[in-house]
Formats: sequence, C-alpha cells, structure tokens
Amino acid sequence: MDYKDLLKKAEAAREFAYAPYSKFKVGAALLTKDNLIFTGCNVENAAYGSTMCAERVCVYKAVSQGSRKFIAIAIHAGSHSATPCGECRQVLAEFGADIQVIMGGSSGFTVKSIVELLPCSFTLRTNEKKD
Ligand code: THU
Repeated sequence: MDYKDLLKKAEAAREFAYAPYSKFKVGAALLTKDNLIFTGCNVENAAYGSTMCAERVCVYKAVSQGSRKFIAIAIHAGSHSATPCGECRQVLAEFGADIQVIMGGSSGFTVKSIVELLPCSFTLRTNEKKD
C-alpha cells in the first residue's frame, strides 16, 4: 500500500468523525507490518477533555486487536494539513521511532518520521526492550 492509498483510507475514516464542538474533523489510517490497516476518527465529548484524537483511536484499535508493529500512519484533516498533537506523537513513539507520519489534506501531503516529529521522546529506560 502506498502513502496516497493510506491517505485515502484516512480521508474515508474522516467521514465518521464526531466533532460537534470543534467542527474539526480528522481521519487517520495506520498501516501495520502485517499489511493490516486500522482506521480512526476523532471522537469529541461535551466534557472536552474526554475527546480522543483520530490517531490514538487507530493505535488503540490496533494494539487491542494484537498488532503492535507499525509502518506508517496517515492523517487527513480536510483542507487543513494537520500534524499530530503532542499526546499522539508520544503514543506513536511508544511503538517505534521509525513510524512514518503522512500528513495530508486536500492539497497534498508531507511525510516525517515520529523521531523527527518528537525528538527525545520520554522513555522509562534507555535501550528498553518493549514486549
Ligand atoms: N485532533 C485529532 O484528531 N488529532 C490531532 O492530532 C489533533 C487534534 C482532533 C481533536 C479534536 O476533536 C479536534 O481535532 C480539534 O482539536
């Protein structure tokens, strides 16, 4: 699957966004090493802090269904080209510094790795083995 196709999946997932408060709809699609795709959208809440971003929905869906090896995540925010928020960067960094982040909108996309987006991310130990 190429990045353009992954971004199309993110765009399709954006249709399901529940964003009555911000009106800012985000869709995401996460590609695993096994070639599985987990999609997500933002899910807002009247208690604003309970809102969940599209990217973390993908990661939590994947991990809870047994996938932890990720190649890339595409994010689509309509006419904006959204970058992942700090919390989503930290959550993605947990699963690999090399995950490619495809940030797109209706006018194209850019690609950066998680380590580029979040250098020096928090870990409990250096050389930690995550299993
Ligand atoms: N949002 C995401 O889904 N992903 C991000 O990386 C940043 C923000 C959502 C959360 C909220 O529903 C809306 O965008 C406005 O902040």
